[in-house]
Amino acid sequence: MNKQFANDVISGLSKHQKTLSSKYFYDDAGSRIFQEIMEMPEYYLTDSEFEILSLQAKQIIEAVNFNQPFNIVELGAGDGFKTFKLLEYLVNNNIDFHYVPVDISHGAMGNLTKKLKAKLPKLSIHPRVGDYFEILSKENVQENTPSMLLFLGSNIGNYHEKEAINLLQLFNDSMKKGDALLLGTDLKKNPIKIQNAYFDQYGITKRFNINLLLRINREFDGDFKIDDFDFYCHYNPLNGEVRSYIVSLGNQKVMLKKLNKSFDFHYDELIWTELSKKYSLDEINNLAEQSGLKVKEHFLDCKHYFADTLLVK
Ligand code: AVI
Repeated sequence: MNKQFANDVISGLSKHQKTLSSKYFYDDAGSRIFQEIMEMPEYYLTDSEFEILSLQAKQIIEAVNFNQPFNIVELGAGDGFKTFKLLEYLVNNNIDFHYVPVDISHGAMGNLTKKLKAKLPKLSIHPRVGDYFEILSKENVQENTPSMLLFLGSNIGNYHEKEAINLLQLFNDSMKKGDALLLGTDLKKNPIKIQNAYFDQYGITKRFNINLLLRINREFDGDFKIDDFDFYCHYNPLNGEVRSYIVSLGNQKVMLKKLNKSFDFHYDELIWTELSKKYSLDEINNLAEQSGLKVKEHFLDCKHYFADTLLVK
């Protein structure tokens, strides 16, 4: 049994305002649903970042300015293929590098590797399944090889601000002098655009959330009746936060047999599952400053929806 997951479920569902963490969305089924989200036209984040990495790969690599072979370590690579254009640029220009995608999903890593090997046979790829920090401490110790870390897709937005700073500080700690970090952040914009990306008309984001209940049923022998729960989400343009919730459609009791626990849900009660925070460029500068990193350059898409920010130690 995944002890950490069990403890987090028990403590989250015991709170007055119930929570479940979106970090548990990504079992193999959840990773596949996330792939569907990234393919929705409303989920503009994927296309915006794809545009940046397609049209500005050269400028990004020039700004990094490594004059020797290097590693690209992508944290939370998923099977999303978002880095493809950057990798393609490097391979086509015979630049000497080694790609290390890191993710907690086995399935996602397998798919990504298969797709990349088919599309870029010359790519040197070394996938890793597991926790970012364990892998970073092992991978990033080769003193002589500089690394560019990638933390793309606005993954940073899923952390509360303090945790985001802690995470960036940890990245900073694992970086050697001269290493770089490319950080993808979704920018504040017209609230309707953001709301439509998360409260989608096809119900895909709802499935993404409800899948967590299925995962809990499977792993802890639970009896969540998934038809008795719905999904709600809301973007607050004043603080840049999209908050996603699972809603109980009635008074109900759920038993998690393996944990020997039961939880009561009342009519319309919310379980907060996810934060997807949006930033302004000033706020990104501030995040960087507070984590001891320097902003070298912001790379934006033409609509200014998304930023890939190059940070150095
Ligand atoms: C992975 N992460 C950056 C996504 C986001 O936009 O917060 C997860 C997601 N949740 C709902 N749609 C996409």
